[in-house]
Amino acid sequence: MTQTLLIENASQVVTMAGHSGKPAKKDAMRELNIVENGSVLVQDGEIKAVGKQVELEEQYQDDIAGAEVIDARGKTVTPGLIDPHTHLVYAGTRENEYAMRLKGKTYMKIMNAGGGIHATTKATREADFDQLYEESKQRLDTFFQYGVTTVEAKSGYGLSLEHELKQLEVAAKLNEDHAMDIVSTFMGAHAVPVDERDNPEPFVKQVIDEMLPEVARRNLAKFNDVFCERGVFTPDQSRRILEAGKEYGLIPKIHADEIEPYGGAELAAEVGAISADHLLEASDEGIRKMAENDVMGVLLPGTAFFLMAVFADARKMIDIGVPVALSTDANPGSSPTLSLPFIMNLGCLKMGMTPEEVMTAATINAAHAIDCADHIGSLEVGKQADIAIFDVPNYLMLSYNYGMNHVDTVIKRGNPVVRLHSGGNRK
Ligand code: NIG
Ligand code: FE
Repeated sequence: MTQTLLIENASQVVTMAGHSGKPAKKDAMRELNIVENGSVLVQDGEIKAVGKQVELEEQYQDDIAGAEVIDARGKTVTPGLIDPHTHLVYAGTRENEYAMRLKGKTYMKIMNAGGGIHATTKATREADFDQLYEESKQRLDTFFQYGVTTVEAKSGYGLSLEHELKQLEVAAKLNEDHAMDIVSTFMGAHAVPVDERDNPEPFVKQVIDEMLPEVARRNLAKFNDVFCERGVFTPDQSRRILEAGKEYGLIPKIHADEIEPYGGAELAAEVGAISADHLLEASDEGIRKMAENDVMGVLLPGTAFFLMAVFADARKMIDIGVPVALSTDANPGSSPTLSLPFIMNLGCLKMGMTPEEVMTAATINAAHAIDCADHIGSLEVGKQADIAIFDVPNYLMLSYNYGMNHVDTVIKRGNPVVRLHSGGNRK
């Protein structure tokens, strides 16, 4: 039986139409293609029509008769938000390190003393599949509450074949069981294990010769990411790991220039990465190379906020022509939040982005950052019906009333997964 849903009379439908072929850059990042007094017709999990309520009523009379209806009067409808950079699967929390940082200890000092990523690696290794599954599932439920309908999820708290596979298998099982879509990234090169730090080369080899082939053989990841940072992986090691991943069909991503300028943005352009993420300290040369090579800048202002660091210069990047996406970087150390709308607010207030640009960055450009723009990221006919309805009359209000959750309803593949207000049926 056909399942039809009509979201009707929204004060704004932010369609993001027209950017699915390639990432939005420069002025195009400000083109939201809004329909005022708009409606969205969904059939069998896909978008069947988007337009003015009156037009849809006329053109799709038969489909609309008997459809389930969501009254969106006074509300803003957007594509489901997309979070293209999370460390979803982990165990344990690090609030003790937060307290230490508030007293002046730095993130890298804590990590070098065996805390940071190493602390979460220890907790994640000790956790079994079921514990990781349950904790990550709860995070996915919370992501839904904030309007997010697809997340990228990285491994990187296992740092051994066994435990990296465990993390990726948890993500794969959740992708099957949970309504959320999860796109997985292998990040075995997130840190050199504590006991191998004096001699990292064997670990780099292990990532290349053991982990990458097995992850690829089991088809557990689409992307391959590395933490290219002084004291973690050098640009040369990062390049070798990313090039090796390409041999197995894994698309490169990089944690680039997060703490200091280290050539990460340049490397992203050179290896043909789909994105370079963080970029707080990216060089002008690196930014220019990214623009020339269409490398998406995935910016994570929650991390700068939480680490009390300088923010990435989004304004400069967008003006030069780097396509930009936004993400939470959700993780227990540098950004323990699951609120992408708050990240959008930081994008405006701390990185010089406009409200239009942050909307693009959290929808269609985020979809491009994980190579999914053919089926999500905009409200266009034929795309998956992943939709967020916010209880605000226009998109500006979303990042204006900060630190609050405006989600009213979230639709995943045509099914409501969050519903604060009840709908009805068309008589
Ligand atoms: O994106 N920089 C490396 N990885 C994460 C932080 C991981 C952690 O601190 O647990 C990041 O900031
Ligand atoms: Fe990260």
